[in-house]
Amino acid sequence: MIEINEQIKRKLVLALDVEKIEEAKDLVEKLSPYIGTFKVGLQLFCGYGTEIINYIKTKNADFFLDVKLHDIPNTVEKASYNIIKNGANFFNVHATGGIEMMKAAKKGAFEASEKFGFKKPIILAVTVLTSISNEILKNELENKCETKDFVLKLAKNAKLAGLDGVVASAQELPLIKKELGKDFIVLTPGIRPVWSAKDDQKRIATPTNALKDGADYIVLGRAITKSDNVIEAIKKVYKEIEGN
Ligand code: C5P
Repeated sequence: MIEINEQIKRKLVLALDVEKIEEAKDLVEKLSPYIGTFKVGLQLFCGYGTEIINYIKTKNADFFLDVKLHDIPNTVEKASYNIIKNGANFFNVHATGGIEMMKAAKKGAFEASEKFGFKKPIILAVTVLTSISNEILKNELENKCETKDFVLKLAKNAKLAGLDGVVASAQELPLIKKELGKDFIVLTPGIRPVWSAKDDQKRIATPTNALKDGADYIVLGRAITKSDNVIEAIKKVYKEIEGN
């Protein structure tokens, strides 16, 4: 029987960014003792819909549907209802969809969680995608704000709409915690253990540093999923966080 540090497990989110359902199931099977939440993104969801969701649910793990909704409030409300009805614990919406749209997401999600007796869903907002550079924001999208200020403004809107938090890089994490309070959830991707490759991520942090800066959840992706031995890799992450 393996001893698992439950406090660490609860904060770990694994990004199931793989092509085939078999690969995803294999990762869930091997890593569910160590991972609190599995994140299903558009690639897997568009390919395999509820099949992967139902599989995650058999492992008693939480699941995060990373579909970044952005549509008119009525459509987002109905989609949010169905996301929760299908058993997601977390999902996200684009904060650029506006406060009314974010409120609609919450309304739909809460209606479903009450109706089906599920625990309170966690709804996060995506502020500015990390693929949007300052140049794109200014020249293509004609947004006069600095990225940092825009991120903060959108995070404030998410809080006003009653959402639980935001997805934010390690770079933005301290500012968001300072401005919006420690209870406003921050889920941080771009996490790289000290021993792993950076891949295409630019704003990275180690698991230990992101957690020290207050991240409520950290997203592990290729650092684990591309390892030759995923179980050894996740055990190394635990050791790194525990300071061994
Ligand atoms: O493999 P890697 O650790 O880079 O995966 C990071 C995960 O976090 C991916 O699923 C990616 O889509 C997601 N993500 C991100 N940056 C954001 C938002 C989400 O890397 N700003």
